Amino acid sequence: MDIVAPAIDEYLTRILPEEHPILREMGEFGRARGFPIIDAQSGRLLHVLARSINAKRVLELGSGFGYSAMWFALAMGEGGLVAMTEGAQENSDRARDYFNRAGMAGHAEFNVGDALAIASKKVGPFDIILCDIDKGQYPAALTVAREKLRIGGYFICDNMLFHGRVLERNPDVATQGVLELTRLLSTAKDFITTIVPVRDGLSLSLRIS
Ligand code: DHB
Ligand code: MG
Repeated sequence: MDIVAPAIDEYLTRILPEEHPILREMGEFGRARGFPIIDAQSGRLLHVLARSINAKRVLELGSGFGYSAMWFALAMGEGGLVAMTEGAQENSDRARDYFNRAGMAGHAEFNVGDALAIASKKVGPFDIILCDIDKGQYPAALTVAREKLRIGGYFICDNMLFHGRVLERNPDVATQGVLELTRLLSTAKDFITTIVPVRDGLSLSLRIS
């Protein structure tokens, strides 16, 4: 299921200003490999959010080859640090190569292993935590956010509409993870959440207490 009507999606992409050359290159690589990166529309939303709260520390759960992390690093600029987590060494190495070539390696950490296990050892507080891990693990990511995110920070999750699978009568385990996190966020007293139907659905949860 298309979340956004294709013609509108094309329009929204067409009106984007030209992005940093390294982001263009990463986007082309992702599309060529069928790697599920967030796209430039979502990246720009991350950029706006990071700048709006003067974010300087971002923790990512599930970084792939660093596409969203690069958006954050470029948005934060001097003094910014994005801590990546990724299960596959090959993806992490590729992220490091892109960050090196963009001159941004000093603004990034490349952690390889289980995202939730690595995150549990990180010392907060973070300004933003982005969640894009296995969807079955999504509810556990909220625990990380409660431990590590500052008040006034954003917990942001990708794939919260999951190609429309959230509407299915018999959701699979991955979709159940997305649905359970959605339920937890919608009833949470310590976050205000909205789901933006950009790309595959991004939830934005502002921590208020
Ligand atoms: C898919 C897309 C994603 O953005 C992701 O993080 C995982 C899976 C998918 O299209 O299946
Ligand atoms: Mg995703």
